[in-house]
Amino acid sequence: MIAAYQQRCAARVDAALAELFEAPRDELARLYRAMRYSVEGGGKRVRPLLVYAACEALTGDLDQADGAACAVELIHAYSLVHDDLPAMDDDDLRRGQPTTHIAFDEACAILAGDGLQALAFEALAAPRHNPQEAQLRLAMIQALARAAGPAGMVGGQAIDLESVGRRIDRSALETMHRHKTGALIEASVQLGALASGNADERALRCLSQYAQAIGLAFQVQDDILDVESDTATLGKTQGKDQAHDKPTYPALLGLDAAKAYALELRDQALHALRAFGDSAEPLRELARYIVERRS
Ligand code: IPE
Ligand code: IPE
Ligand code: MG
Ligand code: MG
Ligand code: MG
Repeated sequence: MIAAYQQRCAARVDAALAELFEAPRDELARLYRAMRYSVEGGGKRVRPLLVYAACEALTGDLDQADGAACAVELIHAYSLVHDDLPAMDDDDLRRGQPTTHIAFDEACAILAGDGLQALAFEALAAPRHNPQEAQLRLAMIQALARAAGPAGMVGGQAIDLESVGRRIDRSALETMHRHKTGALIEASVQLGALASGNADERALRCLSQYAQAIGLAFQVQDDILDVESDTATLGKTQGKDQAHDKPTYPALLGLDAAKAYALELRDQALHALRAFGDSAEPLRELARYIVERRS
């Protein structure tokens, strides 16, 4: 079921994203090609799926969630382009293709990332594909800005880089994961809920507990896959965390304990949704998928 839902969500967000990559002038063709290249090509589209599934859980209209779905995927794509740069993780393979700085060049990849980040906020600010109520759009912009910025993803990436080669304890590792990956996943759920126009405080609180659990689970599973999957399946070079001496859950706890923790987080996520009915089924399926996925 989740595969079909994932395909529907991917088709939906891809159609909306395609509109954003028309170069307004010939001189910008290469920059726009680099941005399109960084977004297209096999991403799982988990964050847009979360936007749609959270909107659906609150019986919202998905037409009002397309802007948010684009925005979170644009921020995610930019974060990967910069994450792969030589100054960061120095990776040359992403989604089975050369990373953006290899396919283009480093300066172009930096600018493509910058451009994607700005496009995300443009996609969220416009009334098209978003709630008509400006107040609601403002709340969504604030949530995404906070999650993407220094108190969220960028902060997590800074902690990640500072931790290379050092032993950090479990609580520091959790803080890092909650920032670098959890924050944007939490924002995806929050944006979807806000886009529905039906989010009351109680629903937002339950969804936030759900999102915190799957946000951490997502990066725990990413760390596990880096150890036990293979490059062809992952579409990115397996074993890079160990090669770069990155702090990860398998490195700190061992593989079995890391897997047990991922399952525990899945159960926490499912528990947070206990007051929701069938409309939250896609969110539940996604929690299971996150810890079962092989890529
Ligand atoms: C990879 O994210 C980077 C992390 C934040 C763990 P995804 O596994 O969602 O990457 P794509 O978009 O499917 O390639
Ligand atoms: C990526 O973490 C987190 C962000 C891009 C914000 P990783 O460095 O583990 O992601 P992969 O494994 O390269 O996809
Ligand atoms: Mg990284
Ligand atoms: Mg990386
Ligand atoms: Mg990783």
